[in-house]
Amino acid sequence: MGSNILTLCYLIASVTFIIGLKMLSNPASARKGNLVAAFGMAIAILGTIFLYESEGEKLHNYAWIFGGLLVGGIIGTLAAKKVKMTAMPEMVSMFNGMGGACAALISIVEFNHLYKGIEGGAVSAGDVQPTVLIIVLGLIIGSVSFAGSMIAWGKLNGKVKDFSFTGQNILNLLLLAVTIGAGAYLVYDPAQHILVYAILGMALIYGVLFVMPIGGADMPVVISLLNSFTGVAAACGGFLYDNKVMLTGGILVGAAGTLLTILMCKAMNRSLANVLIGSFGGNKAGGAGGSKEQGTYKEISLSDAAMVMSYANKVMIVPGYGLAVAQAQHVCHELEKILEEKGVEVKYAIHPVAGRMPGHMNVLLAEADVPYEKLLEMEQANDEFKTCDVVLILGANDVVNPAAKTDPASPIYGMPILEVEFAKTVIVNKRSMKPGYAGIENDLFFQPKTSMLFGDAKKVLQDVCAEVKAV
Ligand code: TAP
Repeated sequence: MGSNILTLCYLIASVTFIIGLKMLSNPASARKGNLVAAFGMAIAILGTIFLYESEGEKLHNYAWIFGGLLVGGIIGTLAAKKVKMTAMPEMVSMFNGMGGACAALISIVEFNHLYKGIEGGAVSAGDVQPTVLIIVLGLIIGSVSFAGSMIAWGKLNGKVKDFSFTGQNILNLLLLAVTIGAGAYLVYDPAQHILVYAILGMALIYGVLFVMPIGGADMPVVISLLNSFTGVAAACGGFLYDNKVMLTGGILVGAAGTLLTILMCKAMNRSLANVLIGSFGGNKAGGAGGSKEQGTYKEISLSDAAMVMSYANKVMIVPGYGLAVAQAQHVCHELEKILEEKGVEVKYAIHPVAGRMPGHMNVLLAEADVPYEKLLEMEQANDEFKTCDVVLILGANDVVNPAAKTDPASPIYGMPILEVEFAKTVIVNKRSMKPGYAGIENDLFFQPKTSMLFGDAKKVLQDVCAEVKAV
């Protein structure tokens, strides 16, 4: 009876994961989707704790289980409440690493159970080979994901610097080959139990070396890839325990992570191999145009900027990382409303990698209640720029850099960009002429159509709002 109810719990949980994931694909339903999947996960966890039975025995270490749930729950809640939107990728990376570590630990614990059985003669080494294969896969993938995610976390918060040396890629490939070779040998002869720890050590070192040389701007792609690794490692745990919900969850995370990785690479027009082996984004000083003579730029005053926008028919706002740093999304929405009261059509052009995480600008603007239908995806926005009187760029830089189209030597060459130069006037708000994430200068700022409006995005927008009201 108990096991039937548990199977039902797992079925419900699996269905909620799929529904939740589907709901996550739309900003309007994403929050609810998260809750639906979390509800399913709670059912699966509680069902396992109270209904799981093995050889007629139920779980009993309740103090450890609930102690762990309490500590993890408190840390998770505090982290989620305190995290700044700009630090979200770090947190995702850290949590993802914990998932990888869990998968690796499960593999070690389960291998030791098996090994005891082999030693005591309860099972033969030949019988457990398929299980050892799953254990080894979970161990390698989980450990790489843990170590890689920790390095990604450190890089994103500035504690770990990019590091590479000549021949690193070859060393990485060799290390990976030796790790896989050791895993294969352990599957062949599970009695060589010491190999488990050697594999763990090598996989951890590989995870560190694999992420170390990857440039900062490529971190989201790497995190998404590591996320898919964690999913696969969790699915291995599902196989191991014959636990359907763990298997479903792991496969969904693995598939979603892989798809997101592919989509992000597409958005930057780069192959995954180029992201993993190249060093775009890490090489801040090395961009083409870094030292190129750029000519002069012109500035625009607050009142002139307000005037130009007030008398425009259509204004397209291009939000970028700087808008998130300044936390200017609310005042941005305020400007949109004031302009619309004056009969100006206002829309937002969203670049898929604007900001520092996938969907960053969508989340930011949703926080300020900007209606979703006002957000245009890159392709749509590029079709509309020619009908815009003004493009207002708020803390964006790389995603509007024409070098991506015109300069084959640029590290961002080939990345699709927002083609703002087709609008009649371009106003750029940022604090200085400093480059963005890719570390390269931006010709757009020196073009005759462009005017610079310097200052912190929040302060500037507050002042522009006041000026527009006064026009
Ligand atoms: P960036 O190219 O990084 O440019 C942001 C600009 O905002 C900077 O030039 C900065 O100039 C300005 N800024 C910073 N603080 C500001 C403030 N308080 N007020 C006004 N401006 C401020 O941003 P982007 O155009 O959004 O492009 C994103 C870049 O990050 C791409 O290279 C992308 O590949 C990379 N990346 C993306 C992701 C994802 S998945 N979205 C994750 C990691 C990295 P000043 O210092 O002069 O103000």
